[in-house]
Amino acid sequence: MNIIDIIAKKRDGMELNKEELEFFVKEYTNNHIEDYQAAALIMAIYINGMTNEETKNLTIAMAYSGDVLNLSEFGKNIVDKHSTGGVGDKVTIILAPLIASMGIPVAKMSGRGLGYTGGTADKMESIPGYNTGIPENEFINNIKKIGISLITQTLNLAPADKKIYALRDTIACTESIPLIASSIMSKKIASGANKIVLDVTCGSGAFMKNLSDAEELSKIMIEIGKLANRETVCIITNMDQPLGYAIGNTLEMIEAIKALKGDIPKDVQDVVLELGAYMVKLVGKGDNIEENKNKLLVNINNGKAYNKFIELVKQQGGNIEYIKDIEKFPKAPIVKEVLSIKEGFVEKINAEEIGKLACDLGAGRKTKTDNIDMSVGIVLNKKIGDRVAKGEKIATIYANNKEKAEKTEQEILKIYRIGKDQIKEKTIINIIK
Ligand code: URA
Repeated sequence: MNIIDIIAKKRDGMELNKEELEFFVKEYTNNHIEDYQAAALIMAIYINGMTNEETKNLTIAMAYSGDVLNLSEFGKNIVDKHSTGGVGDKVTIILAPLIASMGIPVAKMSGRGLGYTGGTADKMESIPGYNTGIPENEFINNIKKIGISLITQTLNLAPADKKIYALRDTIACTESIPLIASSIMSKKIASGANKIVLDVTCGSGAFMKNLSDAEELSKIMIEIGKLANRETVCIITNMDQPLGYAIGNTLEMIEAIKALKGDIPKDVQDVVLELGAYMVKLVGKGDNIEENKNKLLVNINNGKAYNKFIELVKQQGGNIEYIKDIEKFPKAPIVKEVLSIKEGFVEKINAEEIGKLACDLGAGRKTKTDNIDMSVGIVLNKKIGDRVAKGEKIATIYANNKEKAEKTEQEILKIYRIGKDQIKEKTIINIIK
């Protein structure tokens, strides 16, 4: 078997068999296939798609490309969550300690930014000292000691995904159903949980731009879950505008800390509670979704979720003084307000375009090795459905350079569509089990 024949087969629109996919995953993980050959194959998959059989075989090969964690010492049912990515998505930062505060163990491995979407691991690193790269024994010990650990993909879990994910990001191959399904499910299978709740984002700021694609992605991930004995629930959520108000690493961290203290934007709360309620249900701690949501809200309001977050940050070397006093976070040198030139209601805020602007300010990477500027980003002051007067602030830009701030201001004015219609957005679109 050789990689050139495999690339040619997929280039010509044919179906790859299990052995060919296993060969690619194994040899690429072991650095026996060059990045340019893997890029050619990934592009062929992107263009020609994959059958469900191929997607399942690719996922299982990726899941077993490294270690598979055994978390059974923490109970019969271990739950994990993952999002297909979005703009302003700080859900994990709030939800992980919230679930842990309910006495449910959380072993969370989060990714870095991909394309114009942010990554939880990067956001966690906006806390000075927080270590997302701890070894496996520490990861397990933290869960034993405080019931939670949140790391990035440093352990030898699904190393094939780590390489393919980074490669896809640099060759414009992020928005692909088989590639997203295999990326997410391989990581989830390797991470050891047997119950999985997935936030399948849908809309302009998500990889799935329409509901039928989001449903197709959900169904294939659920099927892969079944194959691997992982019960999976997909919550399709609205990503037509950024989630919450803040976009950018430190800015989102600050929004998440405030949320943990009870000051939580409505759309963020909807997603956190819906996902959380299903996580509680899957581990057998409550069958009634609405009751579960109430229990979760109690743990936000009584400070238990916030205290768990403090414990997590402390345990992983982060400076908790920043959490206790958010004013300590370094600020971007340039702060520019964007004032509306029209009056009416906000009808549309294209989330992908906002995500790209935040990336251009330095909040995301353009190449694998780019550094991120934690302090930059955008805070929306108005969201869809809000009334705006002429001259009123619609957004605030946090930049490290005056020219970039001015360019971003002009772009934001174009991205905000202000008109006569007061649109009501729905956050939770569908639930697929
Ligand atoms: N999140 C992932 O882990 N992988 C993807 O491909 C997209 C979002």
